[in-house]
Amino acid sequence: MIQPPLDLFGPEPQQLAPHTTLLPGFALAQVEPLLDALRLVLKAAPLRHMRTPGGLPMAVALSNCGALGWVSDEHGYRYTPFDPQSNQPWPPLPLVLQALAGRAAALAGFEGFVPDACLVNHYRPGDRLSLHQDRDERDFSQPIVSVSLGLPAVFLFGGLQRSEPARRIALNHGDVLVWGGEDRLRFHGVQPVGPGVHSRLGERRINLTLRKAG
Ligand code: SIN
Ligand code: FE2
Repeated sequence: MIQPPLDLFGPEPQQLAPHTTLLPGFALAQVEPLLDALRLVLKAAPLRHMRTPGGLPMAVALSNCGALGWVSDEHGYRYTPFDPQSNQPWPPLPLVLQALAGRAAALAGFEGFVPDACLVNHYRPGDRLSLHQDRDERDFSQPIVSVSLGLPAVFLFGGLQRSEPARRIALNHGDVLVWGGEDRLRFHGVQPVGPGVHSRLGERRINLTLRKAG
């Protein structure tokens, strides 16, 4: 009987655009240490619904770790070294996360990526993130590394203009997506997360985006 080839190395990376790579399941082997680290981060800097400069609460709950954290309030969007809620520095970037992001970036062609900021986005079923660009970082030569955990989501990956049509990319538990280079300023967002209960994370999706912000 002919056996199918044994998939020893997991699914192959997928090149989605010139400088955008999906690494399916890349974080799966690290999920438990990642969740342990995340628990400590969220204890020190609890998730909160930040307000847009217009005053509306964002659907997605957010926190940060690393030397810099992204905040939004009536003064606008920016990175700060302090959590405005506690007036303390953000919790440090867990080593397991920094190392994972560095390996993912290198596989995607971005050697030497050392993030100094990680946004933690927490979605409940129904929560969405509207199309936006990540442009509050200083150096756009550095990529964004996104780690998805929990419920699946449809990531919208558009063009450099808001009006361009967006591709729909399935992001599942453990997937890592890296975008940089000429794709760095593409508009992107997340469709409303569908109902469901993830076996490890329950009724939630958590996305970690690692950046070089400062
Ligand atoms: C983001 O754009 O900052 C988050 C993307 C995601 O949740 O997948
Ligand atoms: Fe973003």
